[in-house]
Amino acid sequence: MPIKTLQDLFIHELSDINSAEKQLSKALPRMARAAEDPALIAAFEQHFEETQGQLERIDQVVEAGNFKLKRIKCAAMEGLVEEAKEIIDEIPKGPVRDVALVGAAQRVEHYEIAGYGTLVALAKTLGHDVAASTLHATLEEEKATDIKLTELAKTTINRKALLVK
Ligand SMILES: [Fe+2]
Ligand SMILES: [Fe+2]
Repeated sequence: MPIKTLQDLFIHELSDINSAEKQLSKALPRMARAAEDPALIAAFEQHFEETQGQLERIDQVVEAGNFKLKRIKCAAMEGLVEEAKEIIDEIPKGPVRDVALVGAAQRVEHYEIAGYGTLVALAKTLGHDVAASTLHATLEEEKATDIKLTELAKTTINRKALLVK
């Protein structure tokens, strides 16, 4: 279906982020298994749980608005997940891989922050006020996850990696 109106674009963006979340939902358990630092494993596991809730929020928005999502694959998330796989293939398990995994996860969070930021703005413009606040809740979770990863990197993970000879 061509994208002509702002409403069409909103549905396209919502379909894209839905695909992104589904792909991430499959990748996060792999990233948790690939990590070594217990706090990083816990962060990935917690964000996996949050991601299930975020997918439920998308379903709520779709149901409440009687929207029809498009079957599209988010190519950006496919690439980000692919890069996370490359890290796991190329770096042995340990602190250096953990640093790389944090970087991969933060790329994902920034993509999601941009996606949900756009969606919240579009929902507000279109007068979908409940959808806007529902999607805003997810936007805040993505931001919090990004901050948490930064903190983990700065407080422990990066320094542990510096000791690897
Ligand atoms: Fe998400
Ligand atoms: Fe996320």
